[in-house]
Amino acid sequence: MITVKINLGKERSYPVYIGADLANLGRTVKSLAPGDKILLVSDERVYSLYGEAVKSFLEKNDFDVSIACVPPGETSKSLFQVEKLYARCAELKLDRSDAILALGGGVIGDLAGFVASTYLRGINFFLVPTTLLAQVDASVGGKVGVDLPAGKNLIGSFYQPKFVYMDLKTLETLEPRQVREGLAEIVKHGVIKDEELFCFLEKNIGRVKNLDRKVAQFIIERSVRIKARVVEEDEREEKGRRQVLNFGHTIGHAIEGAMEYKEYTHGEAVSLGMVAAAKISEKLGFISEDLVKRIIELLKVIGLPVKVEEVDEDKLWDVLYRDKKIRAGGLNFVLPRDIGDVFLTSEVPTKVIKEVLREIEK
Ligand SMILES: NC(=O)c1ccc[n+]([C@@H]2O[C@H](COP(=O)([O-])OP(=O)(O)OC[C@H]3O[C@@H](n4cnc5c(N)ncnc54)[C@H](O)[C@@H]3O)[C@@H](O)[C@H]2O)c1
Ligand SMILES: [Zn+2]
Repeated sequence: MITVKINLGKERSYPVYIGADLANLGRTVKSLAPGDKILLVSDERVYSLYGEAVKSFLEKNDFDVSIACVPPGETSKSLFQVEKLYARCAELKLDRSDAILALGGGVIGDLAGFVASTYLRGINFFLVPTTLLAQVDASVGGKVGVDLPAGKNLIGSFYQPKFVYMDLKTLETLEPRQVREGLAEIVKHGVIKDEELFCFLEKNIGRVKNLDRKVAQFIIERSVRIKARVVEEDEREEKGRRQVLNFGHTIGHAIEGAMEYKEYTHGEAVSLGMVAAAKISEKLGFISEDLVKRIIELLKVIGLPVKVEEVDEDKLWDVLYRDKKIRAGGLNFVLPRDIGDVFLTSEVPTKVIKEVLREIEK
């Protein structure tokens, strides 16, 4: 097991355990939660796989464990589910010494974390991410929240868990498409800050795709460290530093939105967004053609899309500009200069974006 510490100052620093064993979860929680009640929040699918085991590991350490299961999927990241969870917390008379433990992917972490951050103005929160995406991305950084009909992640707060606990065995039950989704964010971390990670992915692609245990541990650790470093510098996204994590996300989000979240998973859309950003950077003379080819090749061998199905350009521009308005800034791009080095700019000519979008269309 490897422990990465997220340093956010006194009281709010916390460990991320990578390669831990669920069987030891109870003991680790016990050392940090003074109360005896735990509300275990999960989704029905994850609960059916790991829920009973986790419940019994907690009970062995004398916790009184209650279960709240929501249907799997993004639709559970809603105020409706938040309200139901508040009602459960109240019914169980949880107090601030008690805890909420999230067992599941990013949806569960975001939802349960938001409830933990607001119920009684904040109760103990433990995070046990079970998807690769949640382990390398959603579980680090303290963003919690839910969606509104008007858009994703519009309600939320920053709230850090007491720890993040990753048992890599849980990744064995993921579908290959879900693994690729996590790998897209790992490639992103390599391009923005870690050339060594990027080269490692290139050299070990077979074992990476199979999530061979040792390889998985390494790439997850490197990703967590990169995200942690960025978050430590700019926890609340106030200094612009955290924006580098949006590499591939400007066009990625627009593609997701224009296609109404149907055609591509988030990771697939980000893959397309990274291809677009790399090509934009090449056209503007910031990066060489060879490096762009390497980025595209790595995404391709992972099995992520590098060419987009026909996309309604008007819709795509609508989403791009709606996002821009929400942020009240320019249309921001994170562009690679090298593998492991990116920069932020709001000065990409519309003409160049259009050219690149046409180039990446199938
Ligand atoms: N807070 C953040 O900083 C942050 C960052 C990135 C993404 N997110 C959020 O994360 C969410 C996406 O995360 P996700 O992809 O993990 O989604 P998810 O939680 O919906 O999980 C995806 C699916 O995988 C299933 N699943 C989970 N673990 C499994 C396992 N071990 N074996 C088999 N099936 C399993 C779930 O039941 C679900 O159907 C989005 O809502 C996104 O907004 C948050
Ligand atoms: Zn993402």
